[in-house]
Amino acid sequence: MSETNELLSVRNAKKSFRLGGLLSTKEIIAVNEVSFTLFKDKPDILSIIGESGSGKSTLSRLILRLLLPDSGNIELEGKDVHAMKGRKQELDYMRRVQPIFQNPFETFNPLNRVDEFLLATAKNYYPGEKPELTKERVEMALQAVGLSLSEVGGRYPHELSGGQLQRSSVARAIIPNPKILVADEPVSMVDASLRMSIVNLFQDLKNKLGTSIIYITHDLATAYYISDRIAIIHKGYFVEQGETAPILTNPKHPYTKLLVESTLDPRPGATSLADGDISTGDEEYLAVGCKFAARCPRAMDICRKVQPEETIDGTWKVRCHLYGGNI
Ligand SMILES: Nc1ncnc2c1ncn2[C@@H]1O[C@H](COP(=O)(O)OP(=O)(O)O)[C@@H](O)[C@H]1O
Ligand code: SF4
Ligand SMILES: [Mg+2]
Repeated sequence: MSETNELLSVRNAKKSFRLGGLLSTKEIIAVNEVSFTLFKDKPDILSIIGESGSGKSTLSRLILRLLLPDSGNIELEGKDVHAMKGRKQELDYMRRVQPIFQNPFETFNPLNRVDEFLLATAKNYYPGEKPELTKERVEMALQAVGLSLSEVGGRYPHELSGGQLQRSSVARAIIPNPKILVADEPVSMVDASLRMSIVNLFQDLKNKLGTSIIYITHDLATAYYISDRIAIIHKGYFVEQGETAPILTNPKHPYTKLLVESTLDPRPGATSLADGDISTGDEEYLAVGCKFAARCPRAMDICRKVQPEETIDGTWKVRCHLYGGNI
């Protein structure tokens, strides 16, 4: 049987939520027909970029098996991740796909020393191993993020700086030597001056350890800097995806254009996606046709009636009526 080169395949993933509680009849599709693939032979940094409330965390939770999709499927090395059952299969999945959360304080128990927590994590993945070897694993993980046991040893989470703590949470994630890191807004709570050093770390991990990274963010600038590929998500749909540089230098989808322009706009007070302040709530989720039509400068009649299909040109995919058939 031939082995697949697909590391992670997300196919037509869909997840809906009822708005305003169980009795409400209104529903939004938080993640809609999302598809993408990471390959084994080519570690990638894929950035998923969108405003607040566009479905990013829902997608991340689907990939991490914290939510079940309504339809579509997610496969890791050819196996449906939501069909995995039992402690052994779950641990096996967690070895290969690790999360990095927005708030490093959520990763660490405030009452536990950081080194103890990391050692316990290593023991969990490699039970029965000699203590010296466990310690060595933790030391290696810390060194890969520019720290060491002597630096974090004996210290509690609040005794480390925000940057050190987020680095330690990346160290925790790489202890089992995962193939994929899913980082949901990993730098949005880190001081702006330290953000670049954390995202640079992702590039290092990709280059040195061959780890693929799904970097979820509303910060176009860091995504532009580190990612090989990007996907722009708007109200559940990937509206544009492909290689980073061509898309961000010559965006095709009007929403991507808005994001790029708002990031580059130097006027004081100009809205910037980096501030996460141009979110539009759930109204756009409920729109018929293209969800972006109410804000789109190029909207046509058809846009308010029919949801655009994806137009594909090689690896470049755009979901917009302007490109019906060709891009
Ligand atoms: N557990 C949930 N129950 C109901 N609605 C949810 C739930 N999780 C997310 N949503 C809704 O789904 C939409 C997308 O949310 P989310 O995935 O958190 O977006 P993002 O991470 O891009 O900010 C939002 O409208 C949010 O209110
Ligand atoms: S489908 Fe229409 S409304 Fe939507 S982005 Fe394209 S032109 Fe604008
Ligand atoms: Mg989120």
